[in-house]
Amino acid sequence: MSGPRILAIESSCDETGVAVVVDGRRIEANQVATQVALHAATGGIVPEVAARQQLRWIIPTLEAALAEAGAGWDDIDAVAVTYGPGLIGSLLVGVNVAKALAVAHDLPLVGVNHIEGHIYANWLTDVDAGAPLPGDPPFPLLCLVVSGGHTQLVLMHDHGRYTLLGQTIDDAAGEAFDKVGRLLGLPYPGGPAISAAAHNAAPATRFPRARTSGAYDFSFSGLKTAVLREVEGHRARSEPIPVDAIAAAFEEAVVDALASKTVAAALDHGVAAVAIGGGVAANRALRATLEERVTRHGVTLLVPPPALCTDNGAMIGAAAGFRFAAGDRAEASLEAIPNLALPWLRT
Ligand code: KG4
Ligand code: ZN
Repeated sequence: MSGPRILAIESSCDETGVAVVVDGRRIEANQVATQVALHAATGGIVPEVAARQQLRWIIPTLEAALAEAGAGWDDIDAVAVTYGPGLIGSLLVGVNVAKALAVAHDLPLVGVNHIEGHIYANWLTDVDAGAPLPGDPPFPLLCLVVSGGHTQLVLMHDHGRYTLLGQTIDDAAGEAFDKVGRLLGLPYPGGPAISAAAHNAAPATRFPRARTSGAYDFSFSGLKTAVLREVEGHRARSEPIPVDAIAAAFEEAVVDALASKTVAAALDHGVAAVAIGGGVAANRALRATLEERVTRHGVTLLVPPPALCTDNGAMIGAAAGFRFAAGDRAEASLEAIPNLALPWLRT
Protein backbone atom coordinates (compact mmCIF):
# COMPACT_ATOMS: atom_id res chain seq x y z
CA MET A 1 0.00 0.00 0.00
CA SER A 2 1.40 3.34 -0.89
CA GLY A 3 0.38 6.64 0.65
CA PRO A 4 -1.14 9.73 -0.93
CA ARG A 5 0.01 10.86 -4.37
CA ILE A 6 0.44 14.64 -4.26
CA LEU A 7 0.79 17.05 -7.14
CA ALA A 8 3.07 19.82 -5.84
CA ILE A 9 3.67 23.28 -7.26
CA GLU A 10 6.60 25.60 -6.50
CA SER A 11 6.63 29.12 -7.96
CA SER A 12 8.12 31.30 -5.20
CA CYS A 13 10.97 32.82 -7.17
CA ASP A 14 12.39 32.22 -10.65
CA GLU A 15 11.90 28.47 -11.00
CA THR A 16 8.58 26.94 -12.01
CA GLY A 17 8.42 23.48 -10.45
CA VAL A 18 5.69 20.86 -10.63
CA ALA A 19 6.18 17.40 -9.16
CA VAL A 20 4.24 14.26 -8.36
CA VAL A 21 5.37 12.74 -5.06
CA VAL A 22 3.99 9.65 -3.34
CA ASP A 23 3.98 9.39 0.45
CA GLY A 24 6.16 12.50 0.73
CA ARG A 25 9.08 10.31 -0.23
CA ARG A 26 8.99 8.88 -3.72
CA ILE A 27 9.35 11.15 -6.76
CA GLU A 28 7.22 10.10 -9.74
CA ALA A 29 7.80 13.35 -11.65
CA ASN A 30 9.81 16.49 -11.02
CA GLN A 31 9.72 19.10 -13.77
CA VAL A 32 11.51 22.41 -13.34
CA ALA A 33 11.44 25.31 -15.80
CA THR A 34 14.19 27.74 -14.94
CA GLN A 35 14.49 31.40 -15.87
CA VAL A 36 18.24 31.56 -15.24
CA ALA A 37 19.17 32.49 -18.82
CA LEU A 38 16.64 35.30 -18.82
CA HIS A 39 17.85 36.82 -15.55
CA ALA A 40 21.49 36.42 -16.59
CA ALA A 41 20.85 39.20 -19.11
CA THR A 42 19.90 41.62 -16.31
CA GLY A 43 22.44 40.26 -13.82
CA GLY A 44 19.70 39.37 -11.35
CA ILE A 45 16.00 38.74 -10.87
CA VAL A 46 13.52 41.40 -11.93
CA PRO A 47 10.39 40.42 -9.94
CA GLU A 48 7.97 41.56 -12.65
CA VAL A 49 9.77 39.46 -15.25
CA ALA A 50 9.91 36.48 -12.89
CA ALA A 51 6.14 36.63 -12.28
CA ARG A 52 5.36 36.87 -15.97
CA GLN A 53 7.58 33.87 -16.68
CA GLN A 54 5.83 31.87 -13.95
CA LEU A 55 2.59 32.52 -15.78
CA ARG A 56 4.19 31.53 -19.08
CA TRP A 57 5.56 28.22 -17.78
CA ILE A 58 3.15 26.95 -15.15
CA ILE A 59 0.75 25.07 -17.46
CA PRO A 60 3.43 23.48 -19.72
CA THR A 61 5.34 22.41 -16.60
CA LEU A 62 2.19 20.96 -15.04
CA GLU A 63 1.42 19.01 -18.21
CA ALA A 64 5.00 17.74 -18.43
CA ALA A 65 4.87 16.55 -14.81
CA LEU A 66 1.61 14.63 -15.27
CA ALA A 67 3.03 13.06 -18.43
CA GLU A 68 6.28 12.12 -16.70
CA ALA A 69 4.35 10.48 -13.85
CA GLY A 70 1.99 8.81 -16.32
CA ALA A 71 -0.75 10.08 -14.05
CA GLY A 72 -4.24 11.39 -14.66
CA TRP A 73 -6.23 13.50 -12.23
CA ASP A 74 -7.96 10.38 -10.87
CA ASP A 75 -4.57 9.23 -9.57
CA ILE A 76 -3.91 12.44 -7.62
CA ASP A 77 -5.00 12.67 -3.97
CA ALA A 78 -4.16 16.31 -3.21
CA VAL A 79 -2.70 19.49 -4.66
CA ALA A 80 0.10 21.21 -2.72
CA VAL A 81 1.60 24.62 -3.29
CA THR A 82 4.24 26.96 -1.86
CA TYR A 83 2.40 29.96 -0.36
CA GLY A 84 5.52 31.73 1.03
CA PRO A 85 8.10 33.01 1.59
CA GLY A 86 9.01 34.42 -1.81
CA LEU A 87 8.23 37.06 -4.40
CA ILE A 88 4.56 38.01 -4.28
CA GLY A 89 3.99 38.07 -8.04
CA SER A 90 5.64 34.67 -8.50
CA LEU A 91 3.87 33.10 -5.50
CA LEU A 92 0.47 34.29 -6.72
CA VAL A 93 0.79 32.28 -9.94
CA GLY A 94 1.33 28.96 -8.16
CA VAL A 95 -1.21 29.64 -5.44
CA ASN A 96 -3.95 30.60 -7.88
CA VAL A 97 -3.28 27.71 -10.23
CA ALA A 98 -3.25 25.27 -7.28
CA LYS A 99 -6.52 26.65 -5.94
CA ALA A 100 -8.15 26.37 -9.37
CA LEU A 101 -6.91 22.79 -9.81
CA ALA A 102 -8.13 21.77 -6.36
CA VAL A 103 -11.59 23.16 -7.05
CA ALA A 104 -11.81 21.82 -10.61
CA HIS A 105 -10.77 18.30 -9.63
CA ASP A 106 -12.39 18.32 -6.18
CA LEU A 107 -9.11 17.67 -4.39
CA PRO A 108 -7.83 18.83 -0.99
CA LEU A 109 -5.37 21.72 -1.05
CA VAL A 110 -2.20 21.80 1.10
CA GLY A 111 -0.24 25.03 1.65
CA VAL A 112 3.52 24.54 2.09
CA ASN A 113 6.20 26.82 3.50
CA HIS A 114 9.08 27.01 1.00
CA ILE A 115 11.73 26.68 3.74
CA GLU A 116 10.00 23.59 5.09
CA GLY A 117 10.21 22.27 1.52
CA HIS A 118 13.98 22.80 1.45
CA ILE A 119 14.26 20.83 4.70
CA TYR A 120 12.00 18.00 3.50
CA ALA A 121 14.07 17.55 0.34
CA ASN A 122 16.07 15.35 2.73
CA TRP A 123 13.13 12.93 2.91
CA LEU A 124 13.06 12.30 -0.83
CA THR A 125 14.52 9.10 -2.08
CA ASP A 126 15.22 7.63 -5.48
CA VAL A 127 14.51 4.00 -4.54
CA ASP A 128 12.36 2.27 -7.15
CA ALA A 129 8.64 1.86 -6.76
CA GLY A 130 7.99 -1.32 -4.78
CA ALA A 131 11.31 -1.20 -2.91
CA PRO A 132 10.98 -0.42 0.81
CA LEU A 133 11.50 3.23 1.73
CA PRO A 134 14.50 4.04 3.92
CA GLY A 135 13.74 5.27 7.43
CA ASP A 136 13.12 8.91 8.34
CA PRO A 137 16.06 11.07 9.41
CA PRO A 138 16.47 10.87 13.20
CA PHE A 139 15.12 13.64 15.46
CA PRO A 140 16.26 15.99 16.82
CA LEU A 141 17.73 16.97 13.47
CA LEU A 142 19.85 20.05 12.85
CA CYS A 143 19.01 21.73 9.53
CA LEU A 144 21.19 24.25 7.75
CA VAL A 145 18.98 26.15 5.31
CA VAL A 146 21.05 28.18 2.85
CA SER A 147 19.22 29.76 -0.07
CA GLY A 148 19.07 33.02 -1.98
CA GLY A 149 16.82 34.58 0.64
CA HIS A 150 17.54 32.64 3.85
CA THR A 151 20.43 31.41 5.97
CA GLN A 152 19.18 29.67 9.08
CA LEU A 153 20.24 27.01 11.54
CA VAL A 154 17.08 25.22 12.57
CA LEU A 155 16.68 22.58 15.27
CA MET A 156 13.92 20.23 14.17
CA HIS A 157 12.48 18.36 17.17
CA ASP A 158 9.91 16.39 15.21
CA HIS A 159 7.83 16.77 12.05
CA GLY A 160 6.72 20.40 11.84
CA ARG A 161 8.35 21.37 15.17
CA TYR A 162 11.18 23.87 14.79
CA THR A 163 13.39 26.11 16.90
CA LEU A 164 15.42 28.87 15.23
CA LEU A 165 18.97 28.62 16.59
CA GLY A 166 20.52 31.33 14.44
CA GLN A 167 20.33 33.15 11.14
CA THR A 168 22.06 35.75 9.03
CA ILE A 169 21.99 39.27 10.42
CA ASP A 170 22.44 40.78 6.94
CA ASP A 171 22.79 39.02 3.56
CA ALA A 172 21.72 35.44 2.95
CA ALA A 173 24.53 33.11 1.82
CA GLY A 174 23.11 32.79 -1.70
CA GLU A 175 22.63 36.53 -1.92
CA ALA A 176 26.31 36.98 -0.99
CA PHE A 177 27.33 34.52 -3.74
CA ASP A 178 25.17 36.41 -6.24
CA LYS A 179 26.47 39.88 -5.24
CA VAL A 180 30.10 38.80 -5.22
CA GLY A 181 29.61 37.04 -8.55
CA ARG A 182 28.43 40.35 -10.01
CA LEU A 183 31.41 42.15 -8.41
CA LEU A 184 33.77 39.70 -10.08
CA GLY A 185 32.04 40.04 -13.44
CA LEU A 186 30.78 36.44 -13.35
CA PRO A 187 27.43 35.44 -14.87
CA TYR A 188 24.22 35.23 -12.84
CA PRO A 189 23.54 33.31 -10.65
CA GLY A 190 26.77 33.86 -8.78
CA GLY A 191 26.66 30.62 -6.76
CA PRO A 192 27.41 28.08 -9.48
CA ALA A 193 29.68 30.57 -11.30
CA ILE A 194 31.81 31.20 -8.21
CA SER A 195 31.93 27.50 -7.44
CA ALA A 196 33.25 26.79 -10.96
CA ALA A 197 35.78 29.66 -10.83
CA ALA A 198 36.99 28.70 -7.34
CA HIS A 199 37.65 25.17 -8.53
CA ASN A 200 40.43 26.50 -10.82
CA ALA A 201 42.56 28.30 -8.24
CA ALA A 202 44.00 28.47 -4.76
CA PRO A 203 42.57 31.25 -2.53
CA ALA A 204 44.14 34.67 -3.29
CA THR A 205 43.99 35.72 0.35
CA ARG A 206 42.32 34.88 3.64
CA PHE A 207 39.25 37.03 4.11
CA PRO A 208 38.33 37.77 7.75
CA ARG A 209 35.53 35.71 9.35
CA ALA A 210 32.69 37.78 10.77
CA ARG A 211 31.97 37.86 14.49
CA THR A 212 28.33 37.87 15.52
CA SER A 213 26.82 38.26 18.97
CA GLY A 214 24.57 35.22 18.53
CA ALA A 215 26.61 32.00 18.67
CA TYR A 216 24.83 30.56 15.62
CA ASP A 217 24.24 33.75 13.66
CA PHE A 218 25.89 34.57 10.36
CA SER A 219 27.02 37.78 8.66
CA PHE A 220 28.18 38.05 5.06
CA SER A 221 28.02 41.76 4.22
CA GLY A 222 31.50 42.50 5.63
CA LEU A 223 32.92 39.72 3.48
CA LYS A 224 31.27 41.24 0.41
CA THR A 225 32.94 44.58 1.23
CA ALA A 226 36.29 42.84 1.70
CA VAL A 227 35.97 41.31 -1.76
CA LEU A 228 35.11 44.74 -3.19
CA ARG A 229 38.24 46.26 -1.58
CA GLU A 230 40.38 43.44 -2.95
CA VAL A 231 39.01 44.01 -6.46
CA GLU A 232 39.46 47.79 -6.18
CA GLY A 233 43.04 47.34 -4.97
CA HIS A 234 43.94 45.40 -8.13
CA ARG A 235 42.15 47.99 -10.27
CA ALA A 236 43.99 50.89 -8.59
CA ARG A 237 47.29 49.18 -9.31
CA SER A 238 46.18 48.51 -12.91
CA GLU A 239 46.66 44.79 -12.31
CA PRO A 240 44.50 42.08 -13.85
CA ILE A 241 41.90 40.88 -11.33
CA PRO A 242 42.59 37.27 -10.24
CA VAL A 243 38.91 36.34 -10.44
CA ASP A 244 39.32 32.62 -9.81
CA ALA A 245 41.61 33.11 -6.80
CA ILE A 246 39.32 35.75 -5.25
CA ALA A 247 36.32 33.49 -5.88
CA ALA A 248 38.18 30.68 -4.09
CA ALA A 249 38.98 32.92 -1.10
CA PHE A 250 35.37 34.11 -0.89
CA GLU A 251 33.94 30.61 -1.14
CA GLU A 252 36.38 29.35 1.49
CA ALA A 253 35.27 32.08 3.91
CA VAL A 254 31.55 31.39 3.38
CA VAL A 255 31.96 27.63 3.65
CA ASP A 256 34.11 27.96 6.77
CA ALA A 257 31.51 30.19 8.47
CA LEU A 258 28.63 27.89 7.58
CA ALA A 259 30.48 24.70 8.52
CA SER A 260 31.93 25.88 11.83
CA LYS A 261 28.62 27.19 13.20
CA THR A 262 26.78 24.11 11.97
CA VAL A 263 29.25 21.78 13.70
CA ALA A 264 29.10 23.85 16.90
CA ALA A 265 25.28 23.76 16.92
CA ALA A 266 25.25 20.00 16.19
CA LEU A 267 27.58 19.26 19.11
CA ASP A 268 25.91 21.70 21.53
CA HIS A 269 22.49 20.16 20.84
CA GLY A 270 23.64 16.54 20.68
CA VAL A 271 21.96 15.75 17.37
CA ALA A 272 22.56 12.45 15.59
CA ALA A 273 22.23 13.99 12.14
CA VAL A 274 22.60 17.24 10.24
CA ALA A 275 20.54 17.96 7.10
CA ILE A 276 21.18 20.71 4.59
CA GLY A 277 18.92 22.37 2.06
CA GLY A 278 18.51 25.40 -0.20
CA GLY A 279 20.35 26.42 -3.37
CA VAL A 280 23.71 26.98 -1.65
CA ALA A 281 23.56 23.39 -0.34
CA ALA A 282 24.30 22.40 -3.95
CA ASN A 283 27.77 23.91 -3.50
CA ARG A 284 30.36 21.15 -3.72
CA ALA A 285 32.92 22.84 -1.42
CA LEU A 286 30.25 23.23 1.27
CA ARG A 287 29.15 19.63 0.87
CA ALA A 288 32.72 18.31 1.05
CA THR A 289 33.66 20.46 4.05
CA LEU A 290 30.53 19.54 5.98
CA GLU A 291 30.99 15.87 5.15
CA GLU A 292 34.46 16.00 6.65
CA ARG A 293 33.76 18.18 9.70
CA VAL A 294 30.34 16.77 10.66
CA THR A 295 31.04 13.06 10.25
CA ARG A 296 34.32 13.45 12.16
CA HIS A 297 32.14 13.73 15.28
CA GLY A 298 30.11 10.63 14.52
CA VAL A 299 27.18 12.72 13.31
CA THR A 300 25.43 11.72 10.06
CA LEU A 301 25.27 14.29 7.27
CA LEU A 302 22.22 14.23 4.99
CA VAL A 303 22.65 15.95 1.63
CA PRO A 304 19.95 15.96 -1.02
CA PRO A 305 21.22 15.63 -4.61
CA PRO A 306 22.11 19.12 -5.97
CA ALA A 307 19.00 19.24 -8.19
CA LEU A 308 16.81 18.83 -5.09
CA CYS A 309 18.68 21.62 -3.23
CA THR A 310 17.76 24.36 -5.69
CA ASP A 311 14.07 25.21 -5.99
CA ASN A 312 11.87 22.37 -7.26
CA GLY A 313 8.38 20.94 -6.82
CA ALA A 314 9.43 17.59 -5.34
CA MET A 315 10.60 19.20 -2.10
CA ILE A 316 7.17 20.84 -1.77
CA GLY A 317 5.58 17.42 -2.36
CA ALA A 318 7.80 15.99 0.39
CA ALA A 319 6.77 18.59 2.98
CA ALA A 320 3.16 18.29 1.80
CA GLY A 321 3.28 14.53 2.40
CA PHE A 322 3.88 15.14 6.09
CA ARG A 323 1.38 18.04 6.26
CA PHE A 324 -1.30 16.00 4.47
CA ALA A 325 -0.81 13.01 6.78
CA ALA A 326 -1.09 15.36 9.78
CA GLY A 327 -4.49 16.51 8.50
CA ASP A 328 -3.41 19.98 7.34
CA ARG A 329 -5.77 21.35 4.70
CA ALA A 330 -5.69 24.85 3.27
CA GLU A 331 -8.86 26.87 2.85
CA ALA A 332 -9.99 27.80 -0.64
CA SER A 333 -9.06 31.33 0.42
CA LEU A 334 -5.35 30.43 0.82
CA GLU A 335 -3.26 33.55 0.22
CA ALA A 336 0.37 34.02 -0.75
CA ILE A 337 2.48 35.35 2.15
CA PRO A 338 5.82 36.83 0.91
CA ASN A 339 7.45 36.91 4.37
CA LEU A 340 6.02 33.66 5.75
CA ALA A 341 8.16 32.20 8.56
CA LEU A 342 8.43 28.62 9.78
CA PRO A 343 6.08 27.93 12.70
CA TRP A 344 8.70 28.47 15.42
CA LEU A 345 8.19 26.87 18.81
CA ARG A 346 8.44 29.32 21.68
CA THR A 347 11.74 28.91 23.54
O1 KG4 B 1 16.93 27.73 -2.94
P1 KG4 B 1 17.19 28.50 -4.17
O2 KG4 B 1 17.14 27.79 -5.48
O3 KG4 B 1 16.18 29.72 -4.26
C1 KG4 B 1 15.81 30.43 -3.11
O4 KG4 B 1 14.95 29.93 -2.35
O5 KG4 B 1 16.42 31.49 -2.89
O6 KG4 B 1 18.60 29.21 -3.98
C2 KG4 B 1 19.14 30.04 -4.95
C3 KG4 B 1 20.51 30.50 -4.48
C4 KG4 B 1 21.15 31.52 -5.41
O7 KG4 B 1 21.62 32.60 -4.60
C5 KG4 B 1 22.30 30.77 -6.05
O8 KG4 B 1 23.42 31.58 -6.37
C6 KG4 B 1 22.65 29.77 -4.98
O9 KG4 B 1 21.41 29.39 -4.44
N1 KG4 B 1 23.33 28.59 -5.52
C7 KG4 B 1 24.60 28.25 -5.20
C8 KG4 B 1 24.92 27.11 -5.96
N2 KG4 B 1 23.83 26.79 -6.71
C9 KG4 B 1 22.87 27.71 -6.42
N3 KG4 B 1 25.47 28.83 -4.35
C10 KG4 B 1 26.68 28.27 -4.24
N4 KG4 B 1 27.09 27.20 -4.96
C11 KG4 B 1 26.25 26.59 -5.81
N5 KG4 B 1 26.66 25.51 -6.52
ZN1 ZN C 1 14.52 28.09 -2.31
